[in-house]
Amino acid sequence: MNNDIGELRKPEIRGPDRSPDRTGSIITAKDFSVYYWKKAAVSEVSFDIPARQVTAIIGPSGCGKSTFLRAINRMNDLIPGCTTSGLLSLGGQDLYSSKVDVVSLRKMVGMVFQKPNPFPKSIFDNVAYGPRIHGARDRGALSNIVRRSLERAALWDEVKGRLSDNALGLSGGQQQRLCIARAIAVEPKILLMDEPASALDPQSTSRIEDLIGELRREYTIVIVTHNMQQAARVSDMTAFFYEGDLIEFGETTQIFTNPTEKRTEDYITGRFG
Ligand SMILES: Nc1ncnc2c1ncn2[C@@H]1O[C@H](COP(=O)(O)OP(=O)(O)O)[C@@H](O)[C@H]1O
Ligand SMILES: [Mg+2]
Repeated sequence: MNNDIGELRKPEIRGPDRSPDRTGSIITAKDFSVYYWKKAAVSEVSFDIPARQVTAIIGPSGCGKSTFLRAINRMNDLIPGCTTSGLLSLGGQDLYSSKVDVVSLRKMVGMVFQKPNPFPKSIFDNVAYGPRIHGARDRGALSNIVRRSLERAALWDEVKGRLSDNALGLSGGQQQRLCIARAIAVEPKILLMDEPASALDPQSTSRIEDLIGELRREYTIVIVTHNMQQAARVSDMTAFFYEGDLIEFGETTQIFTNPTEKRTEDYITGRFG
């Protein structure tokens, strides 16, 4: 098992771990809480997120799903009054240690949001944006990164003839796949997705779900969704959050067919939420 993610403070580009081993956890939460001012939005959750699998976080609106997801790349640092307690670690390193370099962390942990948010730039420049920030300058090398990222995001065939067109001219579903290409262009280990398909039509949603199925070979994916069918379709593991508590965490098939907790059962059978 090697889920070592290297030293977060070293900024050099590392390729993804292609070892066939998919076991072992990469993210560990231990009594981890997130507060806005004094109020806990996530309360003392403890669970291990396995490497190179898809973990879904489900639960009713306001239960802390996005807050937990943003804690993984420290996006919550930007929110006034937001503090944490307990442990959240990545590859064995405490993410909230003062030694962690947040820029390196965000390179390791890419994020895709609910609403596609491409930059008002060309398709090429959107994907090249991260690699350029991290020092890539050579046009040939950049072209290769752009092509490879678009291929992995299942968008290349649709855009290869118009890479210099503005990304805002793409459809919503294409824009979201472009955002995924932009996220993977810097070779992250982990992809965080916060309701990545909820603004898309059913056909685009199913393309994103197929893509998640492809990407899980190479990345650890943590996806927030309020769509339980989607969680059941795309994830290996499911965490059910309710009012900031982690009620149940387990294999998706178990959670959806044989939940241990009454509240999980009530939620997945649509009794509330
Ligand atoms: N920026 C913020 N400032 C203060 N409270 C927030 C902020 N973001 C979320 N919250 C609160 O934290 C709780 C969890 O929110 P969130 O993580 O967005 O839930 P979910 O993604 O499950 O809908 C909610 O009570 C919400 O009102
Ligand atoms: Mg949310």
